Parts: sequence; structure tokens; C-alpha cells
Amino acid sequence: MKVARLTLSDRASAGVYEDRSGPEIERVFGGSGTGDIEWVRVVMPDERREIEDLLRRLCDEDGCDLVLTTGGTGPSRRDVTPEATKAVIERELPGFGEIMRSRSFDKVPTAILSRSTAGTRGRSLIVNLPGNPKAIGECLPLVIPAIREALKHLN
Ligand code: MTE
Repeated sequence: MKVARLTLSDRASAGVYEDRSGPEIERVFGGSGTGDIEWVRVVMPDERREIEDLLRRLCDEDGCDLVLTTGGTGPSRRDVTPEATKAVIERELPGFGEIMRSRSFDKVPTAILSRSTAGTRGRSLIVNLPGNPKAIGECLPLVIPAIREALKHLN
């Protein structure tokens, strides 16, 4: 399986701080018994058009089965990941974001600040995760069964 993990953060891409969320995606998803994974690793700024272009390329040309994004889902003016995702997907799967928000909320009341979504483009699935590295471990395991099932439907 080919999986892209995209860290969308102005500061991580500028080297202001180290990207810990991308490696955390690899640790959590790679350790979930999904089998052999070829990883595509990207850290880039919160630039909507560039994100859209990359998402299209990863799905249409690079043959990624799955694109996991982290960051850029909040209310800040620079946060554009859900907008870029919605611009490129053909079918939205809103349940991914709904479950991450509702299941995190009791422990993390700020979980509702994430506008994350998911959807399909061709045979690829795109899923947004919040940017906090801790949030990866809180959110990604909740949706791994649905990711596996969605990928079966797409292939
Ligand atoms: N969800 C979980 N499970 N854990 C978290 O720490 N952080 C929240 C929210 N969702 C968080 C979470 C916060 S504080 C914000 S601002 C939003 O995700 C959006 O974060 P992002 O813009 O880095 O994607």
C-alpha cells in the first residue's frame, strides 16, 4: 500500500519547530497491522493552492491509496486544509471528522475546533487529522477500521 503523510504547517515547514506529527502518523498507522507500506513524506506550508495541487498529484499520478494530512484544520486564518481537501475530493465522508471531534471532546474540549474532513478522489482516500502530535494518537486509531474498509471499496 502507498500512503502519503502530509504535515501542513507554516512553522514546521520553515524549520521553526520539528515536525513530530508526520512521524507520529507513521508510528500509529504503520503499527496498526496494515502490512507493507510505501511512505511518501511531505512537510509544507498552509498554502491552499499548493496543497490542492499536491493532493491531486498524489491521487492521480503517484497512485497513493491513502493520503493522511495533519494540521491546518483549525479556525486560524491560515488554516486551509479542509478547504483544499473539499476542493479536490469527489465524495465527502464527513463521518471521519465527526467521530474524531465527538470521541475526543470528553478528554479534549478544544477538539471541536478542528474542521477536519475526509473524502475520496478516484481510487484514493484523503483523511484530515488535527495538527497536534498528541491528537494523532487520539484520533487516528478511531478511524483505522473505516480506512481499511473504505480502501476495499475503492479497489
Ligand atoms: N483533537 C484531539 N483529539 N486532541 C487535540 O489536542 N487539538 C484541537 C483540535 N482537535 C486537539 C484536537 C485544537 S486546539 C485545534 S486548534 C484543532 O484541533 C485544529 O488543529 P490544527 O489546526 O493543528 O489542525
